[in-house]
Amino acid sequence: MTGRTECRAAGEDRIGEELRFSGWVHRRRDHGGLIFIDIRDRSGLLQVVFNPGISRDAHTMAHDLRAEFVIEVSGRLGRRPEGTENPGIETGRVELYARELAILNESAPLPFGLEDQDISETLRLRHRYLDLRRPRMQKNLVARHKAVKAIRDYLDSEGFLEIETPMLTKSTPEGARDYLVPSRVNPGLFYALPQSPQLFKQILMASGYERYFQVARCFRDEDLRADRQPEFTQVDIETSFLDEHEIMRMTEGMLAAAFKAVLDIFIERPFTRLTYREAMERFGSDKPDLRIEREIHDMAGPAQKGTFKVFLDALEKGGRVLGLRGMGMAGLSRKEIDDLTNSVKEMGAKGLAWIKIKGGFDSPIAKFFPEEALGEMAEKLAAREGDMMLFVADRQEAAQAVTGKLRVELGRKYPVDFKEDQWRFCWITDFPLLEWDEEEGRFTAVHHPFTCPAEADVPRVMEGDITDRELLYSLKARAYDVVLNGYEIGGGSVRIHRQGLQSRMFQVLGISPSDAEKKFGFLLEALRYGAPPHGGLALGLDRLAMLLCGMDSIRDVIAFPKTAKAADLMSGAPSSVEPKQLRELHVRLDLPAEEEGQ
Ligand code: AMO
Ligand code: AMP
Repeated sequence: MTGRTECRAAGEDRIGEELRFSGWVHRRRDHGGLIFIDIRDRSGLLQVVFNPGISRDAHTMAHDLRAEFVIEVSGRLGRRPEGTENPGIETGRVELYARELAILNESAPLPFGLEDQDISETLRLRHRYLDLRRPRMQKNLVARHKAVKAIRDYLDSEGFLEIETPMLTKSTPEGARDYLVPSRVNPGLFYALPQSPQLFKQILMASGYERYFQVARCFRDEDLRADRQPEFTQVDIETSFLDEHEIMRMTEGMLAAAFKAVLDIFIERPFTRLTYREAMERFGSDKPDLRIEREIHDMAGPAQKGTFKVFLDALEKGGRVLGLRGMGMAGLSRKEIDDLTNSVKEMGAKGLAWIKIKGGFDSPIAKFFPEEALGEMAEKLAAREGDMMLFVADRQEAAQAVTGKLRVELGRKYPVDFKEDQWRFCWITDFPLLEWDEEEGRFTAVHHPFTCPAEADVPRVMEGDITDRELLYSLKARAYDVVLNGYEIGGGSVRIHRQGLQSRMFQVLGISPSDAEKKFGFLLEALRYGAPPHGGLALGLDRLAMLLCGMDSIRDVIAFPKTAKAADLMSGAPSSVEPKQLRELHVRLDLPAEEEGQ
């Protein structure tokens, strides 16, 4: 007999051979005379038949088998009798006639069946070791591994070096809250876990490494969502002497390699490119889902020809009236329209105006518009008989954000123009450099403070009046995001590599020289000693893996993820620690009254 065989390798070509398998009891069916079990290992499933006519001992022992017992079983591989094949599993045409059985370990009764549907996520995360045994999760982690392997190989072939950067470090500039780690040997001092390796990778460029990458763990203490975790993984990249176009080309190559490796499909390149402004105008989002065809249209022209106060007021205040085509929605009931209006209000709109095209223009607001204006609206939206036209009037940002979300909701709910099975990548470029931060009362960097302004804007930054808000709002960044099917899967920029421009940027951002020195002094210093022009990008590996696996949450592609409250339900982290540990760290707790004593 040979050594252990993987379940999946039990193909028809092995029929007649004596083989040995080890794995878990996945299913068990006792048919009196015969006992059937499916044995499962990482590679797949195989049906094993215990027949007292072949081995009385093995058959007797098989009575004791229960779900998730660990066994070793050997016997002869045979063809399943006609009519008993199982096309649902890869080895569905064969079965093993057990001659010997060894129980390597027993299992306590399970908190949930591995094949149960709709197991609560809390239970899955609490018993993640069981959840991870499920073929679906194994498939996801295999896919993730393949993606990382393909990416590493691709970057290696392009001359990149994988270099690790510290986890115990100083605060980085991505703008979320830091996770802090007290230093025992330096009482009162803290490390920050990196939000990204941003500063270190720039230093590596200053150190002459030219092409760096790292599959890097990043930590951000921010509000969590389905596509956000407090610790997540980036494929972090930095290059010297390449401009944004070359970085984008390389990123496309890397993504194509991952898609080839995991899904065996070719990704069309180059990706569509949209400026930030165009993306906001046409899709109301800087991460547009291009699988949905319908676009947002400006309705100011026809709106002005009418007397509908909501529209006129918005325009008067410098706002926008934006429209969307509701394909085939003229049949919606009053109740359905009310529901839609409510969901649009939840998105932040003040209301939803609509006009059905049903014989004529059918709407409580139709009376406010001359026939010509209604025709013009329909023409702009390419709306036809049977459609509904939808309008949102508001300040530009609000109107775009709402129509952007509505576009996606309608695309998914009434999927006339939604091609779910497509992979629609795009680049978003020409982001604004700065945004006004209401809370801080100053301009902050949209990307981070090391992002280079657009070439044409460099003299305006260096010589312009930086108290002029109009000027600051108009500045563009050499930053780019890569978007796939409505998710931002990566982002980066060309950096500032000259210290003069960097100092000026800090001035623009209202960061004093001493503050800049305190926070990023080591980077500024490195820029003084011949730093090359450089730029890079970081890919959100979890999001990429989620999309490759067709999942809705990044938790399904992370072995040990955290909940929305940043808790690990399996290990129980975060947890309280011994008073002695706190004393050693010179840390004293100051909890709100209701949490004391927990
Ligand atoms: P950025 O902050 O845009 O850029 O992050 C890059 C990518 O990382 C992913 N991502 C996340 N994924 C899961 N959970 C999170 N909490 C989370 N936050 C971000 C996203 C995002 O596009 N240092 C810069 C990159 C650079 O300039 O080179 C950076 O970190 O997919
Ligand atoms: P009202 O004038 O409030 O009775 O609203 C008339 C219609 O216009 C209702 O269908 C509202 O939902 C809609 N509406 C109200 N405010 C807006 C807005 N800002 N944008 C689009 N429609 C609106």
